[in-house]
Amino acid sequence: MKTKTTGIGIVGLGKVGQGALRLLRKERQRLLRMTGVDCRIVLIAEIRPGAARGTGLPPSRFTRDWRKVVSHPDVDIVIELIGGATVAFDVITAALKNNKHVVTANKALLALMGDRIFPLAKACGRVVGFEGAVCGGIPVIRAIKEGLIANRIRSVFGILNGTANYVLSRMRFSDMSFTEAVREAQKKGFAEPDPTLDIEGIDSAHKLSILASLAFGSFFPFSKIHVEGITGVSAPDIQYAADMGYVIKLLAVARMTASGVPCLSVAPTLLPQTEIIAEVNDEYNGVFVHGSATSHTLYTGKGAGALPTGSAIVSDIIHIASYGNAEPFRYAFYPRGLKGRVVPIGSFVSEFYIRLKVRDKPGVMAKISGILGRERISIATLVQKQNAPDGDAIVVITTHGTEHRRVDAAVKKLNRLSIVDGKAVRMPIINDLYH
Ligand code: HSE
Repeated sequence: MKTKTTGIGIVGLGKVGQGALRLLRKERQRLLRMTGVDCRIVLIAEIRPGAARGTGLPPSRFTRDWRKVVSHPDVDIVIELIGGATVAFDVITAALKNNKHVVTANKALLALMGDRIFPLAKACGRVVGFEGAVCGGIPVIRAIKEGLIANRIRSVFGILNGTANYVLSRMRFSDMSFTEAVREAQKKGFAEPDPTLDIEGIDSAHKLSILASLAFGSFFPFSKIHVEGITGVSAPDIQYAADMGYVIKLLAVARMTASGVPCLSVAPTLLPQTEIIAEVNDEYNGVFVHGSATSHTLYTGKGAGALPTGSAIVSDIIHIASYGNAEPFRYAFYPRGLKGRVVPIGSFVSEFYIRLKVRDKPGVMAKISGILGRERISIATLVQKQNAPDGDAIVVITTHGTEHRRVDAAVKKLNRLSIVDGKAVRMPIINDLYH
């Protein structure tokens, strides 16, 4: 096999960068033997002092200036790992304009500005690899882009955020409150000191934007996705859902509708306990893809961390080093280059779980069912749970399929009733993963 030396430049040596570097060095000989690609670390940009320590590389391979990396004549592939959507955009665009291929794990940037980055890559005749941007160690990008190329993708359901999944799993299995579970996730290093992006569903939506764009062949930016986080999910909701045979997951959903336009959302969702994806727990991610030829396929594994994400980055490097601009799937991100249209969430039909705390007195149920009836919402089940210590009652309702906007309108009206204490919680239920 002919040896091909590929010069690697890295911008940002945080946790993921260190994981990728460790793998590139540790597996260098094996990768060379297997693929003929010899990965040579040319230059690393990192602003933290002492970045070279523990890497086994001389300080001369380090700089504080990313511009030196993207313009270095020996660098063939620039690995962008600084995250965010400002400097990272400059790094990637400068690298492409300097005829470098790019590998990035930056989901936010692709979800916000993919429509600028991919056309530029095409114009420059370069490739942007992004396997590490979605679900870390799970090779789901390559699975959809290459493995499932014969399929029209009908739907993608994903547990795409390990932090949120960890929090919901601990609430379910260890009877923790939301706050306790977040604290434990932080202690274990899954959750960031500020976990907003994870628990508010934003990180999942960034990843869904990329998966939906691949699956449906147009660009669906972050702004097209309806996003709800898990801060409103309480331990009793998890218990009430379990009583009915459901698990609550922060679920990212991309579903093609009969009109040929998909609906995209991220929200805490009730899934039947018997579904395989409902058993993806703790910090693990899971992606369930329905292809026209394959039917249903499921991918699961660690979606974050230095080595799992490093693994995805090395895979992109070897792929690009092997094929260069002849990489056969390089324009799969949105071949038609179109901005995708979506069905607004309000008109999307789903079954729902509604939970509310009410005064326990005559006429209360009549008022609740009156409001639901006027919104043409059909009740599937209605249970009054044990009374709360203050004499109030908890009412848990499930509905038949109904448009989101009707449920939202009904919940708004319920919240205005004097008999309702606090705010009603509502979450979609998905029983039809296989349709
Ligand atoms: N913070 C993410 C998670 C990983 O918890 O899954 C990076 O997107």
